[in-house]
Amino acid sequence: MTGFPLQTFLDTPTPFYYYDMELLAKTLDAIGSAAPEKELCVHYAVKANCNPAILKFIAGRGLGADCVSGGEIRAALEAGFPAAKIVFAGVGKTDSEINFALDCGIGCFNVESIPELEVINELASARGLTANIALRVNPDIDAHTHHYITTGLEENKFGIALEMLDEAIACCMRHTGLHLAGLHFHIGSQITINEPFVILCERVNSLIERYADQGINFEYINVGGGLGVDYDNPDANPVPDFESYFGTFRKHLALRPGQSLHFELGRAVTAQCGSLISRVLYVKEGVDRKFVIADAGMTDLIRPALYGAHHLVQNITSTAENTEKYDVVGPICESSDCFGSGETLPETRRGDLLAFRTAGAYGEVMASRYNCRNLPGAVFGK
Ligand code: LLP
Repeated sequence: MTGFPLQTFLDTPTPFYYYDMELLAKTLDAIGSAAPEKELCVHYAVKANCNPAILKFIAGRGLGADCVSGGEIRAALEAGFPAAKIVFAGVGKTDSEINFALDCGIGCFNVESIPELEVINELASARGLTANIALRVNPDIDAHTHHYITTGLEENKFGIALEMLDEAIACCMRHTGLHLAGLHFHIGSQITINEPFVILCERVNSLIERYADQGINFEYINVGGGLGVDYDNPDANPVPDFESYFGTFRKHLALRPGQSLHFELGRAVTAQCGSLISRVLYVKEGVDRKFVIADAGMTDLIRPALYGAHHLVQNITSTAENTEKYDVVGPICESSDCFGSGETLPETRRGDLLAFRTAGAYGEVMASRYNCRNLPGAVFGK
C-alpha cells in the first residue's frame, strides 16, 4: 500500500484520522479552476469537518463558510473565514446564536420559517441592524439519496414550502430589520447523478422569473451542497468532478445580471482526504466466519452504523499474499458497530493497521465519547 506515511502511523496511538493535505489542496485547486467566475461563491459546509487545521487550510483558499450553529460560526471565524463570507443555516437557531451572528456581521441568514423571520427581525431591530436574509425554499425534488440525508422533499422539516413562499417574502418586505437578499436551496447529500441538480436549476429559474414579473429581483441565489464522492473507488476518483457539477449550473441556471450564485459544499471538499486509521486488536474465529476486531468503532466513524454506509477498508501493513474474508467490527457494545461483512483483506493479524477510506467528511466531526471512549486523534500528511 502506498501513499500513507506508515512510519509515522506506527508511532501514533490508534485510532486516529489521517488527513492527506496534498489531496485537500488538489481538491481546492480543482474547485477554484472549475468555478473561477467572481459571481460563483463556494462556501465550505463546516459541518462536514470542523477540525481547526482543516478549517484554516480551507479558509486560506478563499472559500466562504456555511455554518449551522453559533459554535460553527465561532470555529469558522477562529480559522480565519471573514464574517462577511459566513452564511448561517438551520431550522432551530437560538436567540443567542442569532445575536452572536448579528454581532459578528455575518453575510447572510438562510431562514427556514416565518416564525424565525419574526425573531431575526426583532433581534436585528433591537440592535439597529438589518439582517441579510435568504429564504430556504423546499423545492420538492427527490435527490435519490439515503432518506436520512435527503432534504428537498415537500414533507420535510427543512425549508419553506413553495406555497408559503409569498407569505415569507411579504414578511421580509414588511420588516425593517430584514433585507431579502435571495433564495436558498439544498436538496440532499451524496448526490452522484446530475439529474436532481438539473431539476433544481429549472425550479430556481421558474422562481426567479415568477418573482421578477412581480418586481422582486433576488441578488443572491444559493443552491446548497450535495455533490457526492466515490466511496467504492477513492483512489480512482480522489477528486470529485467539479467541472461537470459547476458546468451543470452554468448550463441550466438562467442567472440575471447582478445575481451571485452560492454553493455550500461539504463532503466533496473533505471526504477523500481523510482516512480513519485503526489497529487490529484480535482476529476471532467464529463458527463460519472470521471477525477482525478493530480498535476503532462507531464512536470514531458512525456512518456505517447510522446510515448503513460503506467505507472501503484496507489492511495497510500486511505483507501476506493470500486473502481471506472477514467481518470487520469495532469494540463498542452495539451490534451495529460493524464496518463491513465479508470484506476481502490480505490475511490479517493482531497489530495490523487498517485504513477506513473516504472518512474526511462526517467522520471525525461526528465522533462521540459513548462507552467513555477517547475521541480519535488527527495526523496531517504534508
Ligand atoms: N447545506 C445544507 C443546508 C446542508 O444541510 C448540508 C448538509 C450541506 C449544505 C452540505 O452538504 P454536502 O455537500 O456535504 O452534501 N452526516 C451525513 C450527511 C448530512 C448532510 C447534512 N446537510 C453523512 O454522513 O452522510
